[in-house]
Amino acid sequence: MNTAEFITKTIRPEVQAVKAYPVTPPWTGIKIELMEDNHLDVANNTATSAAMREAVAHAVADAAFNRYPDPAAPALKAKLREKLDIAPEHGLLLGSGSDEVIAMVSQAAVAGGGTVLSLEPSFAVFRNAAVACAGRYVGVSLNADFSLNLDATLAAIAREQPKLIWLVYPNNPTGNSYGDEQIEAIVRAAPGLVIIDEAYEPFAGRSWASRLNEFPNVLVMRTLSKIGLAGVRLGYLFGAPEWINQIDKVRAPFNVSVLQQVAATVILDHYDELKRHAALMVAERERLFVELQKLPGVTPFPSKANFVLARFADSAAVFEALKARGILVRNLSAMHPLMANTLRISVGIPAEMDALINALKEIL
Ligand SMILES: Cc1ncc(COP(=O)(O)O)c(C=O)c1O
Repeated sequence: MNTAEFITKTIRPEVQAVKAYPVTPPWTGIKIELMEDNHLDVANNTATSAAMREAVAHAVADAAFNRYPDPAAPALKAKLREKLDIAPEHGLLLGSGSDEVIAMVSQAAVAGGGTVLSLEPSFAVFRNAAVACAGRYVGVSLNADFSLNLDATLAAIAREQPKLIWLVYPNNPTGNSYGDEQIEAIVRAAPGLVIIDEAYEPFAGRSWASRLNEFPNVLVMRTLSKIGLAGVRLGYLFGAPEWINQIDKVRAPFNVSVLQQVAATVILDHYDELKRHAALMVAERERLFVELQKLPGVTPFPSKANFVLARFADSAAVFEALKARGILVRNLSAMHPLMANTLRISVGIPAEMDALINALKEIL
């Protein structure tokens, strides 16, 4: 047998069928693709980003990188609880990015069968993680304006009996949030665990964290990626310790490295600065939305996150024309029928937004 034949026989057919998560190679121009905090680029060299870099360098210099990390991560967890208002009664699980948290929850809840349900279009990793552990994945389409189709969602829950439901709030890639009463209806109808993914909470200012104690089957997941630590990789899940303790059993024993823990802990000392950046991004998001509305043939969708999704007459042509001008955005047109001819534009620093708007004016 050759390699291809071994693979065909060995790798599960559903894994062979799935597409790997697409990652663009490093980009030297303006990168407004993955909702990072561009204020912290070395080239933008602000005094605070320099201070953060120095603090990280000092902490890393003393880090016990020759030792396995302490998975309890007491310093980092205490800092997270302090800065991000995680209630003392809630359990807290760390992952190497929330991508890893998604994998852990999927493994704990659906490995070997069981259904995962998510709304679509939404974050693609939910499907991939379910497939990776032999779960069934069911996507329920949003309405054409990306609002939640509650009737269809409740019908799918009744029919499919999902063990796990992912709700992204505000949603990626559409940018909108759902009504709290709609989320509540889903939570009450769910026969299993509901995880509210608040990756974009720093830009939305709304959270389900304060309501966790009302429901026996809800946890909140967040990430530090969108507020400056995308490269550090740190996501977290919190809620009733009983849930967290179960999911913790499938965690790789030393999943968050010494360097990740040390870097995140000292960077969080500058949390006020990260929040200031988030506020700047919110202001730029509103400006971007207004500017996009002025362009011919462009329909931006209102966003509560640090990106704006917009529909173009020919998104592929606009994507390529922006790329030719050194500007990288995300073309998700093929992701779902509702996403046809859309581009997702992350919010960068004001100069980057100026460059984007000027480029779009030229192109269109
Ligand atoms: C909704 C949502 N959840 C989770 C993630 C993953 O974030 P992380 O970088 O923590 O793995 C993203 C990243 O874009 C996201 O948009």
